[in-house]
Amino acid sequence: MPELKTIGRKSISFVLNGKPVVAEVEPRMLLSDFLRQELGRTDIHVGCEHGVCGACTIRFDGRPARSCLMFAVQADGHRVDTVESLATQEGALNDLQRAFRTHHGLQCGYCTPGILMSAEAYLEGHPDPSEAEVREMLSGHLCRCTGYVGMVRAILATAKARKDGKAAAE
Ligand code: FES
Ligand code: FES
Repeated sequence: MPELKTIGRKSISFVLNGKPVVAEVEPRMLLSDFLRQELGRTDIHVGCEHGVCGACTIRFDGRPARSCLMFAVQADGHRVDTVESLATQEGALNDLQRAFRTHHGLQCGYCTPGILMSAEAYLEGHPDPSEAEVREMLSGHLCRCTGYVGMVRAILATAKARKDGKAAAE
């Protein structure tokens, strides 16, 4: 009989929303499960758990990533941001979050944290997107409530306001 080896917990350290995290994790634990179950982060939502719905999207070293498709050990030495990173320490929403509220970009809100993380990253690289481009970006996320119209409006309005603000400052 071949000897079965037990794989122990691994030490990891990473930066979560600007704060250091040091932990021991099972190598097979998903990053989404680690964030929710071990760190109590309920701002990461889990829907399909196989990379389709986008609810679990975080930013990993600045890039949107499905946390249900990663292991927690992969976060070691990296930067992870959740939707909490968008608001100020005092809880004031950022402009994109406020636009979602103004334009009715959410209903139940289950998809919203993941969509905000993707949209924020997208706007950094595409400051003046067309409606078609925003819709294409949103195609990576499933929302069962809104029909997406309010989200598209919110993202376009945020892009315009940021562009106008930048032009006024120049
Ligand atoms: S829970 Fe990760 S993509 Fe659906
Ligand atoms: S607001 Fe309910 S799933 Fe998108």
